[in-house]
Amino acid sequence: MQWTALLAFVSLVVSPAVGQTFQRLGTCPTLGCVFPPDQTDFLSGQLFDIRLEVHAPVNGSEAAHRGVPDEKFSFCIQQGKGSCVDAAKYFKVSQPHLEKWSFSYYEDLFAEEAKQSTVVNVASKAYRALSLTDPGTYTAKLKYYGNTETVATWTVRTPNKKRKAKNVLLFIGDGMTQPMITAARLIAHKSINGKYQSLMQLDQMDNLGHQMTHSIDSFITDSANSATALYTGKKSSVNALNVYADSSKNSFDDPKVETIAELFRRIYGGPLGIVSTAYIADATPAALCAHTRDRGQYPAVVFEYLNSAEALNSTLKWPTGCQQPDVIFGGGAEQFIAGSGSPNGTDYYKAFEKKGYNVVYSNSQLQRTSTNQKTLGIFSVSNMAKWVDRHVYPENLKNQKNSPTGDGSDALDQPGLKDMTLKAIDILHARSKSKNTGWFMMSEAASIDKMMHVLDYDRALGELLELDDTVRATIKHLKDIGEYDDTLIVITADHGHGFDVFGGADTKYLAAQTDDRKKRSAIGVYINSGLSGYTVAADSKPNNNTIIYGTEGPNFPVTWNPRYAYAAGFGANPDHREGYTINTKGPRVPATTQSGEQRVNPVDQPQGGTIPVDESQGVHSLQDVSVFANGPGADAFRGVYNSVDIFFKLADALALGGAKPSNNDNDHDNHNNGHW
Ligand SMILES: *[C@@H]1O[C@H](CO)[C@@H](O)[C@H](O)[C@H]1NC(C)=O
Ligand SMILES: *[C@@H]1O[C@H](CO)[C@@H](O)[C@H](O)[C@H]1NC(C)=O
Ligand SMILES: *[C@@H]1O[C@H](CO)[C@@H](O)[C@H](O)[C@H]1NC(C)=O
Ligand SMILES: *[C@@H]1O[C@H](CO)[C@@H](O)[C@H](O)[C@H]1NC(C)=O
Repeated sequence: MQWTALLAFVSLVVSPAVGQTFQRLGTCPTLGCVFPPDQTDFLSGQLFDIRLEVHAPVNGSEAAHRGVPDEKFSFCIQQGKGSCVDAAKYFKVSQPHLEKWSFSYYEDLFAEEAKQSTVVNVASKAYRALSLTDPGTYTAKLKYYGNTETVATWTVRTPNKKRKAKNVLLFIGDGMTQPMITAARLIAHKSINGKYQSLMQLDQMDNLGHQMTHSIDSFITDSANSATALYTGKKSSVNALNVYADSSKNSFDDPKVETIAELFRRIYGGPLGIVSTAYIADATPAALCAHTRDRGQYPAVVFEYLNSAEALNSTLKWPTGCQQPDVIFGGGAEQFIAGSGSPNGTDYYKAFEKKGYNVVYSNSQLQRTSTNQKTLGIFSVSNMAKWVDRHVYPENLKNQKNSPTGDGSDALDQPGLKDMTLKAIDILHARSKSKNTGWFMMSEAASIDKMMHVLDYDRALGELLELDDTVRATIKHLKDIGEYDDTLIVITADHGHGFDVFGGADTKYLAAQTDDRKKRSAIGVYINSGLSGYTVAADSKPNNNTIIYGTEGPNFPVTWNPRYAYAAGFGANPDHREGYTINTKGPRVPATTQSGEQRVNPVDQPQGGTIPVDESQGVHSLQDVSVFANGPGADAFRGVYNSVDIFFKLADALALGGAKPSNNDNDHDNHNNGHW
């Protein structure tokens, strides 16, 4: 207790001028900014940019220096206990030119309501595409306004030089927490007297760890920011993809960091796979390759898949990139169809075909397509259909006008995460054979998050069970093709949602009541929570190896609409109605804009009501953020660590550290000349 109180006190003292929620610039509490900021860890040889900014607030509470920023600031790098050497000299690059701009922000809510922005003038320099190879501690010192200093301590971690894993498959259950896994197990696996008769695949992984997901300048992260941490080992800001957010207007000139996908490409030249059930320009897939402060720059994200960050702006040196991932599977046709949100409005399917891609638009085409070519599979406009709608309520796939071809028909033949992941493995396997490079893939169950956002926990759990089923099928498939022992499989999340189950609900009684107060009685807690009313497939029995693949197959509930449902709630929710039943007509829409604000949607969960729990206190619940891992290098994922450590653990399994700054493969002294 005292320790926590002390910590809170100290942090208040350290940054007195910084608002809690309205920051001049995140990670820059003083008037001199160094990016990468203090406490950054680097993989040896990983490319990064440096951005320096000197701020002169013209007005507001920090007004100083008559609004004229120091243009004569200096910047030096000190390795270990050595002397501090001017950065241009240290990195053997020419002095960057001075850039100047101004920006404005609100200091707090009062200022925002009064539209009283604070104006800041900035002098800046940027150094592009540098790297540090020698492990150890570095001190980066920015000196400005005479003797004022901003000091950043950087650490280059000692890299593992012996490659453990040939292939890496990183699964991300977007927004997936342990309470969701617990709830998914409850509805999809049979329990007798409190003992499960079968388990989820996630329950059976060899190694379990926990990761902390908070971001660099706020304790809540978004998927762009957290993907940046997982893929680069660098904490960043909300909405940023593989850059530190600077204060300039251009959202592409922010200081970049190299991702695990770029490193894998640059060092081994091995095939790369990106699979997601979201639109493919969405943050979690985009973060493997894209670099921008603004995750909403979708055309640029797709442009970067096909070309590179450097091609987007040739004046910004960035000699690395994803160089056309061998597999890109997901939704998001709007970024490819000519005249919609594609780069420059051009036909981007054609642009991919021109670069040698097979392009497929349906599950049937996906299954038939050759495994030898680079493949782009776009299966719907926007996010792909959910497992529950594809398998249980297929009528909901109709009248969506979401065909990936853009012809206005419905995307009725969409693959699931399992179909996409298994096919991607076959393509990466075939394409890595001749050079024996191994491969890297990220596969995302995106709509766990998207459905939790709209309180549609039934669909979210369907997506989670599909992820679990995909991991199970992946392990089997890797064994079948003889790659299992050489493949590191990691399953984790990027952040959580405040979801948990706190009891059971008698949906029949609930629907029969007209009064919200009486509807509350339908919810049972503790002893009245009862047992799972969800029927599970009979063939998920433990001692019976005969698996019969029906419509749903084992490991999914057969009944999604039982009388006795689980009662779940959220740590944060909009105004909403609740009836504890699945929406059979499609995903929930809890709130809509009314009179300019978000208010409860009266037609969502019509049988329900606005019914808080009839208790004097909140009831017991669970919470956790997990990492599961199997395969070579997997034991490193045990324990409790920071999200950024996942990058270093993956990089160590692949021995990606230690590349010389020259970008020459031959300089990489890892085992087998960089090949498996
Ligand atoms: C700062 O100056 C700008 C531009 O003159 C003005 O719009 C703004 O209201 C000023 N802000 C404060 C806090 O005085
Ligand atoms: C490229 O980046 C430079 C430096 O930030 C900027 O001045 C220029 O406008 C950018 N070019 C384009 C085409 O965005
Ligand atoms: C748009 O086209 C121009 C050339 O016509 C090209 O330089 C630019 O990179 C393109 N932008 C995108 C996002 O494709
Ligand atoms: C296994 O279960 C299936 C379906 O429940 C059943 O048809 C089959 O006979 C069982 N096999 C054995 C060996 O018990």
